Amino acid sequence: MPSTKPYEDYDVCVVGLGYVGVTLAAALLSTGRSVLGYEINPKAADELARGVLDLAEPGVEEQIKAKAASGAFAVTTDIGERKLPPVVVICVGTPIEAGGTTPDLSHLRAATEALAPGIDETTLVIVRSTVPVGTSRGLVLPILDRRIPEPLIAYCPERTIQGQALAELLSLPQIVGGLSDEAGKRAGEFFGTLTEQVVPVASLESAELVKLVCNCHTDLIYGFGNEVALITEKLGLDAREVIDAANLGYPRPTLHKPGFVGGSCLTKDPYLLAHSVAAYDHTPQVITAARALNESMPRRVGERVLGALWEQGRDPAEARILISGFAYKGRPETDDLRGAPYERLLPFLKGRVKEIVGHDFVVPDARIEALGVRAVDLTEGFTGVHAAVLLNDHPGYGDIDAAGLVARMADPALVYDTWRVLPPSTKAMRLGRA
Ligand SMILES: NC(=O)c1ccc[n+]([C@@H]2O[C@H](COP(=O)([O-])OP(=O)(O)OC[C@H]3O[C@@H](n4cnc5c(N)ncnc54)[C@H](O)[C@@H]3O)[C@@H](O)[C@H]2O)c1
Repeated sequence: MPSTKPYEDYDVCVVGLGYVGVTLAAALLSTGRSVLGYEINPKAADELARGVLDLAEPGVEEQIKAKAASGAFAVTTDIGERKLPPVVVICVGTPIEAGGTTPDLSHLRAATEALAPGIDETTLVIVRSTVPVGTSRGLVLPILDRRIPEPLIAYCPERTIQGQALAELLSLPQIVGGLSDEAGKRAGEFFGTLTEQVVPVASLESAELVKLVCNCHTDLIYGFGNEVALITEKLGLDAREVIDAANLGYPRPTLHKPGFVGGSCLTKDPYLLAHSVAAYDHTPQVITAARALNESMPRRVGERVLGALWEQGRDPAEARILISGFAYKGRPETDDLRGAPYERLLPFLKGRVKEIVGHDFVVPDARIEALGVRAVDLTEGFTGVHAAVLLNDHPGYGDIDAAGLVARMADPALVYDTWRVLPPSTKAMRLGRA
């Protein structure tokens, strides 16, 4: 899919048009910049070139569609060796290896190698993917400096929240770390046209670490809420009562309520941070513990649900269960399934219960069915079911007739309302309450 005009005529090349790349491209386009996208997935590239997006993110599709039509946005699947635009931003995925905890930097390596022939000493290469500390210098630099002696490299992390990415890209402070003063200055100027506040830090590594500590801290504070929940479940107390009382009018750090921690980032970035210091013979203590605790929560919920079915005199192997809330979070709403609690709950329940049906307010039915779960609406889902497990806090739960739905369930039946989205009058099991 070649671009009709020379690459260097675009203002920016965004490499990897997944969630981060496409939202950044939309933000840049909204400020009048022209963007060349480089995306190796031919289906995604073809759809994006036509302005079609497989992601629910406010304002992004409109921007991409309009600018694809005007020619300000184009996509290529083959970057070739042509000279690239003056700024290149790498947004490819940096997952952890399947079933393990080791970062998989193969996409970053491949992207950097593909870009190298098209850069010269004036091209600013910005790494935006989340990476273990030292990756920009240890992986990106050696590839680029085989091509030119002093490549301009900066690390500028993406820190937006899914569901509000476009607004946050245009308002959040942008951390900038340069390999050289010149690279830092150019990257600061670039992001200075997108957002008001640029925060320069002394090195690539400081900027890489800023991103990782932000996400690890979030994992940690959610983990503390979960720690409190597990304690109150044992003590016969209510975590939310304890946490709400602790927070009320008290001017110290706010305690977070318990719940699942999901998404593609929070579930892997602690491993990227641990990997960053493993070579220095250091293991982060609380970060590692919080991740392990948070990962255990979906299974713990599954165990409580099965235990409650037994208590009601029903063998789980005879039970039909509704899972509602497949997206990893409900607010701001998203259709993103990556790192969602169902990933650990579903394998635990499959084979232990008779049937699982599924519902989500945002995720299309086809994507639920692809998980081997029959997609249903809430009325069908509740009808005759022995357990309903609500996994996220989508605002849609506020509009349902909870009492009417519960009345359709088998007798006896149970509801597990993780986020307490149903009215207190609903007799439901809740995370953090015995
Ligand atoms: N999703 C988030 O909210 C978020 C937030 C902050 C940071 N990040 C980080 O940003 C990075 C990207 O995240 P994402 O969610 O957009 O990932 P993603 O997997 O959705 O998107 C990555 C895209 O890059 C493409 N790609 C892979 N290799 C390529 C190559 N060699 N050349 C060109 N394109 C290539 C893939 O086909 C895919 O479309 C990750 O490091 C992630 O940790 C993500």
